[in-house]
Amino acid sequence: MPDKDLTEITLRRPDDWHLHLRDGAMLKAVLPETTRHFERAIVMPNLVPPVVTAKEAAAYRARILAARPDGSTFTPLMMLYLTEDTDPNDVEYAHKNGIATAVKLYPAGATTNSASGVRDFDKVRPVLDRMAEIGMPLCVHGEVTDSEIDIFDREAVFIDRVLKPIRKKNPDLRVVMEHVTTEDAVDYVRDHRKNLAATITTHHLIINRNHILAGGIRPHYYCLPVAKREKHRVALVQAAISGDKRFFLGTDSAPHTDVNKLQECGCAGVFSATNTMSCLAEVFEAAGALGKLEAFTSLNGPAFYGMEPNEATITLRKGDAANYPAQIQSGDGPVTVFDPGFPLHWHVHTT
Ligand code: NCD
Ligand code: ZN
Repeated sequence: MPDKDLTEITLRRPDDWHLHLRDGAMLKAVLPETTRHFERAIVMPNLVPPVVTAKEAAAYRARILAARPDGSTFTPLMMLYLTEDTDPNDVEYAHKNGIATAVKLYPAGATTNSASGVRDFDKVRPVLDRMAEIGMPLCVHGEVTDSEIDIFDREAVFIDRVLKPIRKKNPDLRVVMEHVTTEDAVDYVRDHRKNLAATITTHHLIINRNHILAGGIRPHYYCLPVAKREKHRVALVQAAISGDKRFFLGTDSAPHTDVNKLQECGCAGVFSATNTMSCLAEVFEAAGALGKLEAFTSLNGPAFYGMEPNEATITLRKGDAANYPAQIQSGDGPVTVFDPGFPLHWHVHTT
């Protein structure tokens, strides 16, 4: 049936392979927005201070589990923040004991709370070697931070300067290039089949840099990596709808209070947990690819991480434009929900 005639589609319950839940009052406010539709999520470790050790990850996971809404079976998959002092034995301990699923590499200074990230990649070589040995994936924020590199080129330059050398020295290391925003990254992942995958966010499938900058500056669309030209957005959509197993959803839903977004120097991050599945249904429908949505949101991620897809399902039904809130409230103040700029006709029904 052509997509325009489809009014209902059932998928395995989705997972989010890149999510910021924060802590304290913000965690309490944003967690239900994810658990409503998602069963599992890789939880980013960029708290202040960051989640570096197995012990810290276990404690953070306990706080997340305690904040789950009643009846929720949501599973947080924890991640360790890689620093130049990370101990390979602690990483192995966390992996073997089911405390952490992956390790996160932030180049120092790349984004929100990344000051403890890696400057000298040789210093983390023993950790990367150990991860390759035990099959633990490395998730990378793929942007260089050198001030002389144009912000729109930082992802493409990262591939050449950082990713290729890491993969060359460590071909057995499993790597996820996170929140890819360029055709360059899509091509690189597509052309290198071994031990490499990529996540794509909801917002990068919808906005390009004009949405941020044309006709007035839109702080709520500012995130890192920053959205690029339209041709890159189109390449991302092609990758997402391709069914290629190495591309899967990582929303990078990253809540900041409006006060912190609407500053002279505002925070980077788009909060999309609330309406992500409805947004994605619109994107896939417009591309005539609703049949590929389940692979992107619910099958490819678990396959890469060696997990079973979720047993439970969700159903998306097309109807009148949905009424998602423009903001959610948190104890720290309101957080604006991603505005895709078009009506959302796909309603999510869970069982
Ligand atoms: C993230 C955040 O706010 O923690 N911001 C963002 O723009 N994506 C950090 C990140 O993942 O880069
Ligand atoms: Zn992120």
